[in-house]
Amino acid sequence: MLPNEPSRIALIGAMPEELSAVLACMPEAHCENVAGRQFWVGHLQGHEVVAVLSGIGKVAAALTATVLLEKFQVKRMLFTGVAGGLAQHVSVGDVVVASELLQHDMNAEPLFPQYVVPLSGCAKFKTDEDLTRILLESARHTLPQVQVHAGLIISGDQFVASASESLRLQCALPEALAVEMEGAALAQVCRDYGVPLCVVRTLSDRADDEAHIDFPKFVKEVASHYSVTIVSEFLKRLPT
Ligand code: ADE
Repeated sequence: MLPNEPSRIALIGAMPEELSAVLACMPEAHCENVAGRQFWVGHLQGHEVVAVLSGIGKVAAALTATVLLEKFQVKRMLFTGVAGGLAQHVSVGDVVVASELLQHDMNAEPLFPQYVVPLSGCAKFKTDEDLTRILLESARHTLPQVQVHAGLIISGDQFVASASESLRLQCALPEALAVEMEGAALAQVCRDYGVPLCVVRTLSDRADDEAHIDFPKFVKEVASHYSVTIVSEFLKRLPT
């Protein structure tokens, strides 16, 4: 067990390209293997950080978050990755910072209303206000040519890759800006532990029939560069 550091922050990435870019800035980091994941403990911009890949999907992300909390005792979390754009006014290449997150595939009707996580009384999980403000400012400052949005991001165990499914989600959840596969799971775990979370996603595709072609190309060429730039600025602005 590591000593309890009040300021320790988790940097959780969805893609290996993002993690490598972060690790390149942490040459003295050491690696600990837990549950088949590599947790990199080191320093970045004067902060003690633990960098890790979330895995894909809600269960993988929830497990990663739980290990970060229980074994590495992180006190705050920042998640970066890509997402599919849903709302009409967002485009590939835009950045979305989550103000709240919802599991679009949660449905325990008729026992609980659709989307409500049973016994939590909650469908939309808010991200931390202070971290989210710093994250938004960091994204806008480092990527002045990019549209940066703040709002609802929805998560589910599904890569949305058809115009019909995308339309179904847009009609069901008109406020949703983007869809991905991990954020709302992290938000649920962080809420249970009372740990602040913020989430930023670059839009890699439109969650339509071309999504599977746009996604891998975009991840390599743009998203990992955006992530490390935003993360670096975020840590600069974050109080220790
Ligand atoms: N992450 C990036 N694009 C996505 C999509 N279309 N659906 C779910 N997760 C994604």
